[in-house]
Amino acid sequence: MSKTRKAGADAGNNSLKLCVKGQEPILIPSIYSIVPGLTPSFFEEADIAPSELEKNIDVTISSVALNEKRRYIIGEKVITDKLSGSEMESKSDKSTDELPVIMTLTGLAISAMKENPELDRIDANFDLSVALPVLTITPENAKHNAERFMGTHTVTFHHPSGRNVVVTIKIEYCKCLVEGGSGSWGIVYDEKGQVVKHKVELNDNIVDVDFVNKMFLSFDIGAGTTESVVSKGVVFNPRLSEGLHYGVKESILNVIKIWNRNNPRQTIDNITEFNEIYFNSEHPRHNRLRDAAENAFYQLANRLVTALLNKIDELKDDPYAFVYGGGAALLKDSMLKILKEKKRLTNVVFLKDPIFVNARGLLVYTCSARFEEMKLKQLGVV
Ligand SMILES: Nc1ncnc2c1ncn2[C@@H]1O[C@H](COP(=O)(O)OP(=O)(O)OP(=O)(O)O)[C@@H](O)[C@H]1O
Ligand SMILES: [Mg+2]
Repeated sequence: MSKTRKAGADAGNNSLKLCVKGQEPILIPSIYSIVPGLTPSFFEEADIAPSELEKNIDVTISSVALNEKRRYIIGEKVITDKLSGSEMESKSDKSTDELPVIMTLTGLAISAMKENPELDRIDANFDLSVALPVLTITPENAKHNAERFMGTHTVTFHHPSGRNVVVTIKIEYCKCLVEGGSGSWGIVYDEKGQVVKHKVELNDNIVDVDFVNKMFLSFDIGAGTTESVVSKGVVFNPRLSEGLHYGVKESILNVIKIWNRNNPRQTIDNITEFNEIYFNSEHPRHNRLRDAAENAFYQLANRLVTALLNKIDELKDDPYAFVYGGGAALLKDSMLKILKEKKRLTNVVFLKDPIFVNARGLLVYTCSARFEEMKLKQLGVV
């Protein structure tokens, strides 16, 4: 029997974050362009190097979870090839939208290819955890969402050389958690099931604490939604948790609108392109875009700090609040400034590698004894 790889996939409005045990995390912007049937191929270029795979995605995906078998250009390649791309709609439902499936299967295929760069046919088995936002998750759609991933899917990666790599992905078992709640698994435990110790300041001393039995807040700032999730250890508290219907996307789209009005010959056509300029300090338009975005982001930071503080006050006794998600990377400086002005920095922690916290938590969950138990119970085998 082939080995079962363990994975956590956080397929978001902005990007797929994928953590596979034993590998570096993978990030792929959630944008695609469908390749028309007859594309001329020149077959003169070399194969894509394993480390460059996610920047050069050209794949055909066949899966029962998708209506049609199609060939797609995905992620950064949409921008570098100057294609018109589709992103997730602002009000999309992740449990039925096809994009999370397209992104997740592609990510799993790339992960398998990185391990076997020389093979033309790869069989890869996975145990997987995925997530849905607090605002939309119900027991029914969580179950349905997990089930659409289970089974066998085929992803064919097209190298520009003409070499095709066929990856047969078998997802043995999949569980769907709530976004934000998934992050708490990674805050409390690691992939080996060990309790994570966090260094915190207590009466001027640095001490190690764990969160196995503590109530804390996970504040995940995404592109489309923000999750404000309360848990005791990894036990999700639905009564105290809530989802906010906005993330950083609204503000980014506003900044893009103003930018395009002022720069009609250098338009920014989607959020992925915005991110490429905003997060690359060497991009020639970087400084101008930062200036153009400053006010909108400060205002958003204010709105989010208010939501965060209201939730902290509702919980009383200054619970630890972990702030993460790509939005936390984007807004950290403004949010810290506002928190400092309000003298409210107590127990607010901006986690490192904020964009991968949920995906890593999902991987921790996939590696947990809990996951194995559920798999055994439902499938009768492990
Ligand atoms: N390294 C990065 N690369 C790309 N975008 C980043 C990065 N760091 C922060 N961001 C910003 O964070 C925002 C939110 O990203 P994130 O990946 O958390 O959203 P998401 O999880 O896809 O969205 P949602 O949770 O609403 O579905 C992005 O729109 C982007 O502007
Ligand atoms: Mg997210």
